[in-house]
Amino acid sequence: MKIFTTKNALQQHLQQLRQQGSSIGYVATMGALHDGHLSLLAQAKQQADVTICSIFVNPTQFNDPADLERYPRPIAADTAKLERAECDILFNPPVGEMYAGNENWHLDIGPLEHLLEGEFRPGHYQGVTQVVFKLFDIIQPNLAFFGQKDYQQVMVIRKMVQLLNLPVKVIMCPILRETDGLAMSSRNIHLSTADHEHALVLWQALNRAKSYFEEGMPIAQIEEKAAAMISHEPGTQLEYFTLADGDTLEHAEPHSTSIVALVAARVGSTRLIDNVIIR
Ligand code: PAF
Repeated sequence: MKIFTTKNALQQHLQQLRQQGSSIGYVATMGALHDGHLSLLAQAKQQADVTICSIFVNPTQFNDPADLERYPRPIAADTAKLERAECDILFNPPVGEMYAGNENWHLDIGPLEHLLEGEFRPGHYQGVTQVVFKLFDIIQPNLAFFGQKDYQQVMVIRKMVQLLNLPVKVIMCPILRETDGLAMSSRNIHLSTADHEHALVLWQALNRAKSYFEEGMPIAQIEEKAAAMISHEPGTQLEYFTLADGDTLEHAEPHSTSIVALVAARVGSTRLIDNVIIR
């Protein structure tokens, strides 16, 4: 695996590959890699000639400095995982390589910015679009793979690609779960054994919501029951549980063609998100 820390060296290398006619499949990460990330890479390997993964803990998407500070950064272990997974290129720039100083960035992505995650993490999606735009600009991938666990993030990135007419296809890949159902996340590292047990209620509530929907229960009642189930679990603090339109993420209507149930909660001191596609 070739490792680059500067834009220039990476771009020169990618230029050569492109001239040879290779397609580029890209997986953007903030490191602390788990099997979920590696499943994105496996998809990229299947669908593109060359695979590139970036590891960059992006400061502009953290609205809580303490969260940024404690974000795990096991770069040696991550590099070894990517080597074993036969990733072709790792881009691991320092912050100064990605940001020259104070930069102004605002992309109007409409209501998607302020709904759900946007409400609880103000400014988060501006930071995400800012860094993903820069990474796409440097790498110019043909295909970019993102996990369904950050469902809203995929919608936001697709919106940016559409608004700015970027020549990249964004592919959403399924959530990977532990055998007990917990969605894989870099943040799970912070869960104690008891937290982990309590966190299972998120997946259980999502499944319950799907069954209720299939039985014909009204949407508001499903949300109420799922929220109550999570709120009754010790150690958890619910932020939202909602059934949303799968494209706009506005509140779902019974006739919405695509519906996704999304949840966010704090379990112990860790904030977790999860979702399931209902229709
Ligand atoms: O999903 C993530 O890990 C990050 O939000 C991303 C897409 C790498 C941008 O920093």
